[in-house]
Amino acid sequence: MEASPLLLLVSLTLLLATFLQAKAVPSLQDQAGALLAWKATLQSHPAQLQSWSRGNNTSTRPCSWYGIKCRKHQVSHQEVITGISLRGLRLRGDLDALNFTALETLTSVQLSHNKLTGRIPPSIVSLKELRFLLLRRNQIRGPLSPALASLTKLQYLMLQQNELFGEIPRQIGELEGLVKLNLSANHLSGPIPGELGYLNKLSMLDFSSNNLTGPIPRNLGNLTRLTILYLSGNYLSGYLPRELGYHVNLKDLDLSKNILIGSIPNSFGSLINVNVLALWHNQFSDNIPRELGYLVNLKELYLNMNKLNGSIPSTFGNLTKLTIFYLHDNKISQYLPRELGYLVNLRKCIYGIIHFPGVFLGN
Ligand SMILES: *[C@@H]1O[C@H](CO)[C@@H](O)[C@H](O)[C@H]1NC(C)=O
Ligand SMILES: *[C@@H]1O[C@H](CO)[C@@H](O)[C@H](O)[C@H]1NC(C)=O
Ligand SMILES: *[C@@H]1O[C@H](CO)[C@@H](O)[C@H](O)[C@H]1NC(C)=O
Ligand SMILES: *[C@@H]1O[C@H](CO)[C@@H](O)[C@H](O)[C@H]1NC(C)=O
Ligand SMILES: *[C@@H]1O[C@H](CO)[C@@H](O)[C@H](O)[C@H]1NC(C)=O
Ligand SMILES: *[C@@H]1O[C@H](CO)[C@@H](O)[C@H](O)[C@H]1NC(C)=O
Ligand SMILES: *[C@@H]1O[C@H](CO)[C@@H](O)[C@H](O)[C@H]1NC(C)=O
Ligand SMILES: *[C@@H]1O[C@H](CO)[C@@H](O)[C@H](O)[C@H]1NC(C)=O
Repeated sequence: MEASPLLLLVSLTLLLATFLQAKAVPSLQDQAGALLAWKATLQSHPAQLQSWSRGNNTSTRPCSWYGIKCRKHQVSHQEVITGISLRGLRLRGDLDALNFTALETLTSVQLSHNKLTGRIPPSIVSLKELRFLLLRRNQIRGPLSPALASLTKLQYLMLQQNELFGEIPRQIGELEGLVKLNLSANHLSGPIPGELGYLNKLSMLDFSSNNLTGPIPRNLGNLTRLTILYLSGNYLSGYLPRELGYHVNLKDLDLSKNILIGSIPNSFGSLINVNVLALWHNQFSDNIPRELGYLVNLKELYLNMNKLNGSIPSTFGNLTKLTIFYLHDNKISQYLPRELGYLVNLRKCIYGIIHFPGVFLGN
């Protein structure tokens, strides 16, 4: 049997139509519809959202609405919504009720400082173009879905000060473009996944004030672009990996308020750009490594509330930029090297019962 040319043509056309439909982006009207549907679920009605309406015309113009950004779509050349920015409007409602499937063209979602509840909706995985997901300071609950890994263009993931719980999915390590990751002040538990070592563009990582347990993975030493690393206020245990000393770009390292043990690795003497080093309230023991005296850019050093012993190394005389130095509640000897007299910028120093800038000046 031979297929008639007409039949062939019809099926080809159908095939093409199906293909085009699959590639089609949602129309601006559908996108406006998704936003209006969400607005209708909100329990608060800030004045700014009055512009979100169908108006008198049948065709809605969402691109002029408050907080909405549009752009010509690269492929379809039709106008599409690329940004939502509704920071600090005290919006009360469910994030879940926002249909992200209709908004797949978004590159930026800024909903920080509101009162949004619910979980991060599963439909968020539609946002293949998303670069900024900023949901800081809301009441968003639930675990982080491993499916977040499909947001392959993500650069900023800011979910701090919410009510997220459960483990940090190791799939976050697939977000290769990630530059800033802040999950602080949630209720996340379980270990820090070693896969985060793949995030080689990361410059800021903040997991502080959660319930994380287990060791600090050595793989974090691979994150050589990090300038800020905050892991304070968790239940992290075990030894400090010497690999953390490889962070030559690190400016601010805070590992305080955990239950870390062992000595401070002498590799930390390579953190040559560090300004703030906070290791207080852990269980670090042994001597303070003399290599810490090589951190000539150090301005604030917090070693208090550990089990450090020995005496302050004479190399500390090199820390001439030091303004704050806390060492109390350790087992450090009362012997003070005369080189400490070089620390002319010290403003605040607590060392055992002696508060010492005055002691050294003039030495
Ligand atoms: C709709 O049109 C009426 C009359 O033209 C006008 O008074 C009213 O302000 C319009 N409303 C909106 C939301 O544009
Ligand atoms: C309705 O749409 C037309 C053309 O798009 C526009 O000129 C007019 O200002 C709109 N009217 C209202 C009330 O929005
Ligand atoms: C969300 O939007 C998509 C695309 O416009 C649509 O197919 C789907 O039915 C919507 N879902 C809900 C729950 O409204
Ligand atoms: C992460 O978020 C918290 C809470 O909003 C903030 O205090 C902190 O400075 C942020 N971390 C960084 C590294 O900016
Ligand atoms: C950590 O877990 C404990 C016990 O489950 C809980 O009481 C505490 O509030 C949690 N802290 C955070 C920051 O989630
Ligand atoms: C990171 O570092 C670890 C140990 O230092 C190493 O085994 C691993 O191959 C490195 N690469 C990644 C992507 O984690
Ligand atoms: C310091 O502590 C370490 C291990 O905790 C111990 O081996 C060492 O002898 C102590 N040094 C001094 C000077 O007390
Ligand atoms: C640091 O101090 C030690 C001992 O005081 C000294 O020998 C060394 O040259 C100093 N290094 C730097 C980089 O200043």
